[in-house]
Amino acid sequence: MSRVLWGGATSASQYEGGFTDGKGLDTQDCRPYLPRTSNATTQTRLLTQALIDEAKDPNSKQFYPFRVGTKGYEYGLQDVALLKELGLDVYRLSISWSRLFPTGEEVEPNPKGVAYYDAILHKLHDAGIKIFVTMNHYAIPLAIVEKYRGWTNRKTIDLYVHFAEFVLGKWGDIVDYWLPFNEINAGYFSPYNGVSLVKPADAGYDYDDVFKSLHGQFVANAKTVQIGRKLGVKGTFGAMVSCFCYYPLTPSPEDNLELVKDEEINQWYCMDILSKGYYPYYAQPFFDQHDVTFEITDEDKRLLRDYTCDFVSFSYYSSSICTVQENQSQTAGNLVVTTKNPYLKASEWGWQIDPVGMRTTLHKVYDRYNKPVIISENGFGARDTLEADGAVHDQYRIDYFKAHFDEILKAKEEGVDVRAYIAWGIIDIVSAGSCEMAKRYGVVYVDADNEGQGSYKRYKKDSYYWYRDFIKNEAAKEELS
Ligand code: BG6
Repeated sequence: MSRVLWGGATSASQYEGGFTDGKGLDTQDCRPYLPRTSNATTQTRLLTQALIDEAKDPNSKQFYPFRVGTKGYEYGLQDVALLKELGLDVYRLSISWSRLFPTGEEVEPNPKGVAYYDAILHKLHDAGIKIFVTMNHYAIPLAIVEKYRGWTNRKTIDLYVHFAEFVLGKWGDIVDYWLPFNEINAGYFSPYNGVSLVKPADAGYDYDDVFKSLHGQFVANAKTVQIGRKLGVKGTFGAMVSCFCYYPLTPSPEDNLELVKDEEINQWYCMDILSKGYYPYYAQPFFDQHDVTFEITDEDKRLLRDYTCDFVSFSYYSSSICTVQENQSQTAGNLVVTTKNPYLKASEWGWQIDPVGMRTTLHKVYDRYNKPVIISENGFGARDTLEADGAVHDQYRIDYFKAHFDEILKAKEEGVDVRAYIAWGIIDIVSAGSCEMAKRYGVVYVDADNEGQGSYKRYKKDSYYWYRDFIKNEAAKEELS
């Protein structure tokens, strides 16, 4: 088996900015910066129409961090040079749908958007860095949401496919890995991010809308794979979920059963469909219980069966606990809230740090799907300090990397077919959960604060040098073996 490839990632809305250059308003552009409360990660479960109306008002006094990102639209080519010097094997980036098709309904793409991605993707290719493209990382053109109610309407499948067909046709010869949807299971636990569901302030969670929208994404995913195969693109296709490595709070049979059920719907549901090609046995009983009644046509079933993913991938930041017991102390995780685990330390944002959980997850994912595995996101969200001499001493991030990389390499030795590890937010970006700049993942520091003040200059952190040496050593080990 070949060695693990070591990578880094960003997403368009968290990184690019370049809000006005022909780009249309998208759903992430409407999220204001709100100073953090004790549980900021739940802010975007459902965004209200009132917040969106305010975002559309040119006189709004709010700051919208995703309109600025960390100015990748301006610094992109310089950033690729930094990634090359870092020795990265693979870079994951996403394409902004509304930068190419501002309302989603244009026939021809915005030429400035095409030129931006063309320059970045070719520079990466020329640098010998493998390219991993996420086609949809949370943001969709706002016009599609307002006109069609987004993924609840099958029209959105056609619009997405038009976008995907353009991207595949244009860059199919240089992209190595394709991911139609970021963390597709986020549609379930964070519907605004995942499936762009907007609600009036007083409405609750609507299971039918959520599962109908997810179905729309599954069909769009299958059609994208179908087009890619027809065009004979070079890259392979993946599916991605956010994984949480569940533990039962106690050895009680009830807690353990709760774990199995939580895992099914939160974690495996989407991947079961995209990887195995059919709805799992537990779906219909769950639908019956929650009044989910959307239609699955025979043609949908055929597409799902014939166009499954080539590799499976997952994000992993922290583990979670399942229990039937109420009133446990809670803590935050990736767009979710979970019970505190007394055996683990947590980040300032409450995300529990669990490297062994990464190894466990690798085993579980490989065992369940038996396809090559890519860890498409992982990293440590922390507050960094830029010193007067331009240094950033982030030993805590190096410790986090070391601990997780050890477990990944052990899983590989234990037989899991791990192909790549991709460090999240390799260049600092705006946090997706809390809209803050203060929560940083990068090995490259970007001088900007929560309100968009700063020079946006780039600085190499201590973790940059550590990761560079680590990648070099891993490559050298392979050459010797
Ligand atoms: C994943 C997302 O959910 O977690 C990323 O795909 C996000 O977009 C990452 O940035 C980390 O979450 P946060 O809230 O710390 O930015």
